[in-house]
Formats: sequence, C-alpha cells, structure tokens
Amino acid sequence: MQNFKGIRIVGTGHYAPDNVVTNDDLSKIVDTNDEWISSRTGIRRRHHVTTEKNQDLAVAAAKMALENAGIDKSELGVCICATVRADNLTPSMACMVQSILELPGNMPCFDINAACSGFMYGIEVARGLLMQSDKKYGLVIGSETLSKILDMTDRGTCILFGDGAGAAVIELSDNNYYSVLGSKGDDKVLQCPNEQGDRYVNMLGSDVFKFAVSTVPKTIFELLDKAGVAVDDIDLFVCHQANLRIIESVAKKCKQSLDKFYVNLDEYGNTSSASIPIALSELNQKGLLKPGMKIICVGFGGGLTWGGAYIEW
Ligand code: COA
Repeated sequence: MQNFKGIRIVGTGHYAPDNVVTNDDLSKIVDTNDEWISSRTGIRRRHHVTTEKNQDLAVAAAKMALENAGIDKSELGVCICATVRADNLTPSMACMVQSILELPGNMPCFDINAACSGFMYGIEVARGLLMQSDKKYGLVIGSETLSKILDMTDRGTCILFGDGAGAAVIELSDNNYYSVLGSKGDDKVLQCPNEQGDRYVNMLGSDVFKFAVSTVPKTIFELLDKAGVAVDDIDLFVCHQANLRIIESVAKKCKQSLDKFYVNLDEYGNTSSASIPIALSELNQKGLLKPGMKIICVGFGGGLTWGGAYIEW
C-alpha cells in the first residue's frame, strides 16, 4: 500500500499518422468547404491512418512517454489504454503495448472505453490501482483510429474526427490532485453501433454541443471546489479538443481568457480519448509546462461521459 493519494505526470508522448487530410481534401468527397468547417469547428486538418493499426499509434505514444519520463520500466505497476475501437476484442491494446515494448509481466494491462473521456477515466483508474501496488508508476494511453468508423459520406461527422495517440506516465505523489468523473447513459445523442453496415459514428451535433458547453464548466467548478482553488489561479486548461466554439464558450463561462486554454484541434480534429494526452505532450515538448503549474483537464463524449482532473505539474 502506498502513502500518497495524488499523482503527478512525469512523462508524456504523442503520435499522429503522417497522412494529413485537409478541409479541402474533404470538400472533394462531401458537400462542404474549408470556410464552413473552420468557422464552425476551428478544425483545418486531421491525420488519418493508411496502413497503421490502432496499436501502432498507441505503441509510438507510449514509447515516447516512457523515454520522456526516463523511468526504469520495471517500476511500472499498471498499463491502461483508453480507446473506443481496439484492434482486437482480445488481446487488448494495453496487452499489445506491453508485449511490443517489453513492459513488466507482473502488472495489470487492460483497455477501457469511456469514449472521449477515456484518458481522464484511465488516469483515475491507474491511480486507484497504484495505491494498492508496490510500484509507483503507471502508463496511461489514449489511442484512436476513428477514421475507420467514419461514414465518409456524412458531412456532419466525417469532418470532425482524426486519428492519433497520446500517453502519460504518472507517479503517485503528495501533489494535490482531484478528479471528477461522471456519466449519463444515453444512446441517442452520440453513438457508434457495432453492427455490420451500421457501424459508424453518428450524433445529434447540436445536442452534443449543448451537453459539452454545460458539462465542461460544471466539471471545472466542481474541481475548483474540491481543490479549494480560485478559477483565476488556474494556469492552464486542457479541454477535450472537439470544437473551438465549445472551448470559447467554456472560457467565457469561466470568465477566463481563451489564451489559458490550449488548442490544437486545428491540426488534429477530434481524436477522442487521445486529444487530452496529445495536448499535454505537445505542451510538454514546447516547454510550456512549468513545475507548480495548476492545470485542469476536462474530457467529455459518448456515453454520455465526462471526466476531469486538477493536476499540479
Ligand atoms: N459542411 C457544410 N455544411 C454542413 C456541414 C458541413 N460539413 N455539416 C452540416 N452542414 C449543414 C447542415 O446540413 C445544416 O444545413 P441546413 O441548415 O440547410 O439544414 C447547417 O450546416 C447547419 O447545421 P448544424 O448541425 O445546425 O450546424 P452547427 O452549427 O450545429 O455545427 C457541428 C455542427 C457538428 C459542427 C456542431 O454541432 C458541433 O460541433 N457539435 C459538437 C459535436 C462534437 O463535438 N462531437 C463529438 C463530441 S466528443
């Protein structure tokens, strides 16, 4: 059993396939255009796999996170991969990452599906397992190949999503850390059936939008309450990258400058469970994360689910 209840992130990694699909590329497939997509969503490009499997993305992001953390792999106590579409029903993506990266055998490795909130769920599950473990590090990955479940004739959805993976190595620590997770079972607003011929993402776009702009600020205020911190004291907000207008609305509701909200959806689109860890990894790579920074991350998505964390860097 460990004494610490909080976590800190000690390493990050990300990966996106080389194949870039621009708004102009999509305008050749469906009745849309760059002006509509960029003004309604903020998205300009996204990356789609060609030959890669989902696990290839997960492995690349995990490898980078482990190198960035500089830890001894034998000190890992759990590996979790959040994804909505694993390559196999079994073995799990996490087990394949374990196999390919030769991670220790004496730890739990498994996938979770909480849609676009998956990475935030993964961090909290990993924290809980580490508290019962004698190992101090956990590897949490969000990895998606959503392009494989997009109806490329539906302009309402195919423009939004991209492929990618992000990963973080977490360590149990005495840092302040608080989490909020929730769900509201609903199969109308956002869904992707698993049936042949009907296996595409479909959603009621404006209902998802309304869900996001009410749930994300609510989650932020719950986290602030738990942490006993004022909203102005937060240095950085890392929200799920679904739509720039959602992030703008959240910033407004929190009475915060948009500059405090990291945005990279112009480059990746919505990468579901990968979006928050990709953002954290980019921020880390750019040297924008300083010790002691107070960060709030919030994801939301299918389920409907939401999940957020207050983290000190
Ligand atoms: N290009 C051009 N026109 C499009 C279009 C596209 N890619 N997609 C939809 N349209 C059209 C619609 O057909 C509609 O036309 P109509 O007025 O003639 O019927 C019009 O644009 C407005 O559609 P609407 O759905 O009301 O647009 P919107 O402003 O709500 O934006 C979304 C649509 C999908 C961008 C927006 O609702 C959204 O981002 N929702 C959240 C989705 C999300 O984040 N999902 C994942 C969550 S994890």
